[in-house]
Amino acid sequence: MTENTGLIEAINGPAEARKTGRSCVLNRRSFLLTSGVATATVMVTMHTADGLANVPALVATYPRKLIGKLSELKPDEPLDFAYPDDNSYSESMLVKLGREAGGGIGPDKDVVAFNYNCTHQGGPLQGTYQADDKALGPCPLHLTTFDLTRHGMFISGQAYQSLPQVLLELDGDDIYAVGMFGLIYGRYDNLQG
Ligand code: FES
Repeated sequence: MTENTGLIEAINGPAEARKTGRSCVLNRRSFLLTSGVATATVMVTMHTADGLANVPALVATYPRKLIGKLSELKPDEPLDFAYPDDNSYSESMLVKLGREAGGGIGPDKDVVAFNYNCTHQGGPLQGTYQADDKALGPCPLHLTTFDLTRHGMFISGQAYQSLPQVLLELDGDDIYAVGMFGLIYGRYDNLQG
């Protein structure tokens, strides 16, 4: 059982969370064949000429990617990484807030990760981390600021969607990205970069 199992289950459902263990599988994108992302084979029930039948299906899953070590994180010093792939709009940041946060991992539940692209029109949020407010922003385009302690909720500005949060898992000292909560700007599907 990992620290973010509850959040992962909330997104994927308990059955998927049990079945896939550490993987994140979004139900709504079952059956999507993908390239560049992890896949898994599951049995699904489909209508056939002979009635219902269980058939194997390849589904897209989020990769489990090592993005840092807990012992090496310094408070309020973001670490950049790309997730769920290296394609457009995958730029993300990992940060130890020094304050408990929604979805936070570690002994203080203060380590979180977010995508860097503003949900309004994709303004780049790199370099805008505010240590005092534990926020990203203001966005250089239209000044939206996002609260990193509350799942990336917007505080002010033009955006009306939260910043996508990268779901994290702690395995010993290793921090893994294992999924996403929210749609990345510029994508119609997070796994179709
Ligand atoms: S693009 Fe960020 S507020 Fe408009």
